[in-house]
Amino acid sequence: MGLQFRSLTMLVLLIWFFRWPLIEAQTPARSLDAILQDYAYRAFVRPHTGIPYDGFPPSNLSGIHISVIRLRSGSLYTRGVPSYKEFTIPIGVLEQPYVERLVLVYQNLGNWSTTYYPLPGYIYLSPIIGLLAYDASNLSAKNLPELSLRATEEPISIEFPQVDRVPDGSLARCIWFDLNGNINFTNLVSGRKCETFEQGHFSIVIESAAAPSPAPTPPPPPPPPPRHGGNGNGKRVGIIVGSVAGGILLLILLALLVLWIWRLNKKKKMNKMEKAADSGEALQMTAVGSTKAPAATTTRTQPTLETEYVP
Ligand SMILES: *[C@@H]1O[C@H](CO)[C@@H](O)[C@H](O)[C@H]1NC(C)=O
Ligand SMILES: *[C@@H]1O[C@H](CO)[C@@H](O)[C@H](O)[C@H]1NC(C)=O
Ligand SMILES: *[C@@H]1O[C@H](CO)[C@@H](O)[C@H](O)[C@H]1NC(C)=O
Ligand SMILES: *[C@@H]1O[C@H](CO)[C@@H](O)[C@H](O)[C@H]1NC(C)=O
Repeated sequence: MGLQFRSLTMLVLLIWFFRWPLIEAQTPARSLDAILQDYAYRAFVRPHTGIPYDGFPPSNLSGIHISVIRLRSGSLYTRGVPSYKEFTIPIGVLEQPYVERLVLVYQNLGNWSTTYYPLPGYIYLSPIIGLLAYDASNLSAKNLPELSLRATEEPISIEFPQVDRVPDGSLARCIWFDLNGNINFTNLVSGRKCETFEQGHFSIVIESAAAPSPAPTPPPPPPPPPRHGGNGNGKRVGIIVGSVAGGILLLILLALLVLWIWRLNKKKKMNKMEKAADSGEALQMTAVGSTKAPAATTTRTQPTLETEYVP
């Protein structure tokens, strides 16, 4: 029985272990980052350091613009990048962990912004723009983890080129999505300009006046994490497949549990039956021959243990 219990525990642990990555399935926005990293890196053909190159996203994502620039880490820190698309990167920007050269991938999600960054209760006045840092040591690498990028002196600034007109009475704010799906709102520093100390995805938003209320209402509760509700079909399917697989595993576990309990019960029953048989034998002996009766009572005091299962 100890053996069975141990294997059962092992099974439970195994199922938990394999369940983990399924639950942690990437959100649509994060898998988009991975796709765009791959396609952006393809723009590097004998690249010069410090020169931006435009890339081409896959055709099923047309409308998105991507670009890459490769930099020496030291030059990024001491000189910054005065102009990279909408970004102005000041001196003092550090990556973590340290790499000798890094790549900045630029994304402009265009008409895909609300698909990948749905934000109920708000309206984007500009497409989502992203800036992500990666190691430059292998320019054919895919699924690279992002480096963490931090401005240690001045903030990085973003000047949005086209911003929809802000309706009267609405307050435009900068929005920043970090790579974990957290959202931060900050004030614009000027008409079309936002600032950040870290990488991520940025835009300008206003609250949507879906329910027009003349009285000033308190700001709505923070919107739910937007990265779960997206329509990235690929990842949706991934999550569904994950849940189905998890469900099947759970069913298997349940079946095994039932089987285990059933076998345990059976064993108990058999033990009982054996005991019953022992006493039954004694009784039978008394029934068959009355002469044997006294002998039977003496043997009955010694229950046999020879068939006992040895763990
Ligand atoms: C677009 O195509 C690429 C490669 O062809 C694929 O990896 C990706 O999942 C597709 N994306 C969407 C949103 O369908
Ligand atoms: C964005 O626009 C392109 C054409 O420029 C189109 O192919 C694509 O389907 C659009 N994406 C969305 C999410 O509407
Ligand atoms: C670079 O990445 C590609 C794709 O992951 C891999 O096949 C290749 O071996 C890597 N090259 C080096 C030098 O690490
Ligand atoms: C983001 O916002 C949260 C609360 O909304 C705040 O605690 C946090 O410090 C902010 N992060 C940055 C980097 O501004």
